[in-house]
Amino acid sequence: MKKLILGLFMTVLPALTMAAAPTVPLDTMEPDHTNKPSLQRGAALFTNYCLGCHSLEYARYMRVADDLEIPREMYEENLIFTGAKIGELIEIGMDKSEAADWFGNAPPDLTLVSRVRGEDWLYSYFRAFYKDEGRPLGVNNAVFENVGMPHVLTNMQGLCAVPPKIGTNPSVDPLSGDVRGTDICGEWAIEGTMEPVEFNRAMYDLTNFLSYMGDPVKVERERLGILVLIFVAIFFVFAYLLNREYWKDVH
Ligand code: HEC
Repeated sequence: MKKLILGLFMTVLPALTMAAAPTVPLDTMEPDHTNKPSLQRGAALFTNYCLGCHSLEYARYMRVADDLEIPREMYEENLIFTGAKIGELIEIGMDKSEAADWFGNAPPDLTLVSRVRGEDWLYSYFRAFYKDEGRPLGVNNAVFENVGMPHVLTNMQGLCAVPPKIGTNPSVDPLSGDVRGTDICGEWAIEGTMEPVEFNRAMYDLTNFLSYMGDPVKVERERLGILVLIFVAIFFVFAYLLNREYWKDVH
């Protein structure tokens, strides 16, 4: 009995730890790994703005190119700046201990970040930077307090003068269904090149890409799952008929 109770406790333990997750209010986003154009735009954004500091060292360029349906030569020409071969892992040259000196913390690898933080957190975090002269880099983040990362997308988003309102404006864009809280900033310190709606879409793509990174076989797994269920359903008919045949003479 004791063992049974212990067993039950161990089963619910992971659920309990998950429930203790974020305390900051977040905007939500629904990832879609079948939306290849969105993933391609996300990959381009990541390569241009993030790969200088963050590696994706558990993934290979080739795999990403194939999954995202980007021809390998095109990927090699446009999305690999380090001279790496298409078959290599997506690593970077930045020295971790030096980076920790510059930013306070070293930029972590982001291959599995969507599994750790969740998509809603990422989507909110990317949009939550604001001006804060008290911080070493002049910016802070409403979702990740006292973050060491600079606001690398200032030219696109602009820089909000006050903490942006994340998770307080649950409006859904009727056109796309996924863009929420477009007017999160009350006052801009620097104007960006993108409208808030455009920037939200770009951050949707970036988050979608990182979500794919954390679970690259999701689409295939779900496709196979359906095939397996169809097989089981068909097999059931034959198993049932066979069963009936076997037991026919017993009663
Ligand atoms: C100049 C270097 C630099 C660039 C460029 C950069 N980051 Fe960062 N990033 C950091 C540092 C440093 C941290 C660690 C911050 C901390 O722990 O205080 C970080 C943290 C993060 C985190 C939080 C990780 C975690 O779970 O704690 C995410 C997510 C992230 N970055 C995503 C991005 C994305 C996406 C881009 C591109 C748009 C990007 N970063 C560009 C330096 C950078």
